[in-house]
Amino acid sequence: MKRIAIFASGSGSNAEAIARYLADDTEVQISLILTNNPEAGVIQRARRLHIPVLVFDRKTFYESDRIVEMLLNQKIDLVVLAGFMMLIPNVLIQAFPRRIINIHPALLPRYGGKGMYGHFVHEAVVAAGEVESGITIHYVNEVYDEGEIIFQASCAISSADTPDDVARKVQALEHAHYPRVVGQLLGSQGV
Ligand code: GAR
Repeated sequence: MKRIAIFASGSGSNAEAIARYLADDTEVQISLILTNNPEAGVIQRARRLHIPVLVFDRKTFYESDRIVEMLLNQKIDLVVLAGFMMLIPNVLIQAFPRRIINIHPALLPRYGGKGMYGHFVHEAVVAAGEVESGITIHYVNEVYDEGEIIFQASCAISSADTPDDVARKVQALEHAHYPRVVGQLLGSQGV
């Protein structure tokens, strides 16, 4: 049995897409969804999906080893960041080398780094007049948005597209690919 933990801060549509994709796989379990945001939509989704949820605060995340210990105790094989908006502490990265992945709503290395998350990314892409955007799935290392890239997919942007339009196109790509890539990593890389 492979065990996944998902970190999410917002709506949780990617977390739900992953859960639904893996629902019939008897070899994979989503053991836990963790969030820093007590208002996050992902909490309701997790309840509907019967997945345990942990809401934690900043201090616990950055100033204690409790989250790392919990993930190790639960024998988590892969940590999946799905719209998680906090920097991952080094202690967590070191406990799960090449076992933490993230999805970013743009084609890294462009439109990554501090302040570039969620809707801000799509606003910047439209403001720059880009003709394409997309998604990047990557390993998480100590440098924000700079871990090794696993997969990218792109979509065309027209000059009439608003940031909301770009968000819709990018989310469609996310839901189509993130669950599949998670499934592949669990199968092929022995994580
Ligand atoms: C997704 O578009 C994800 O790529 C982005 O947040 C959104 C979460 O949506 N993540 C980042 O910006 C991380 N830097 P969701 O809560 O509906 O899955």
